[in-house]
Amino acid sequence: MAVNPDFQGKGLSREIMKQFIAKVSGASKIWLVTHPENKAVKFYESFGFKITERKENYFGDGTPRVKMVLNITQNA
Ligand SMILES: CC(C)(COP(=O)(O)OP(=O)(O)OC[C@H]1O[C@@H](n2cnc3c(N)ncnc32)[C@H](O)[C@@H]1OP(=O)(O)O)[C@@H](O)C(=O)NCCC(=O)NCCS
Repeated sequence: MAVNPDFQGKGLSREIMKQFIAKVSGASKIWLVTHPENKAVKFYESFGFKITERKENYFGDGTPRVKMVLNITQNA
């Protein structure tokens, strides 16, 4: 997820994520990857996403990423 810096901090991502999770309620889980030091980790955790694994060279450029999973069925 990425929001134009001019529009960050206005609650857009929180609203988009809320609607996205509601629309995919038929799925069993949602997963994503992000940098372990990205402030977005806390944002995703606030929806119930949990870090399930970390890879040190995820995209082959030497930078780490964490995989975060939201289990929809447990979240319901
Ligand atoms: C992460 C990102 C998508 C958040 O978008 P946003 O529309 O600004 O987020 P919101 O205004 O909905 O805020 C959601 C949460 O983000 C966090 N957040 C937003 N702005 C923040 C800031 N300047 N510093 C720290 N945390 C911040 C807060 O935890 C906030 O939670 P709250 O609602 O309890 O206050 C945005 O900062 C972004 O585009 N970043 C660059 C791209 C990126 O790194 N994306 C994630 C990669 S997976």
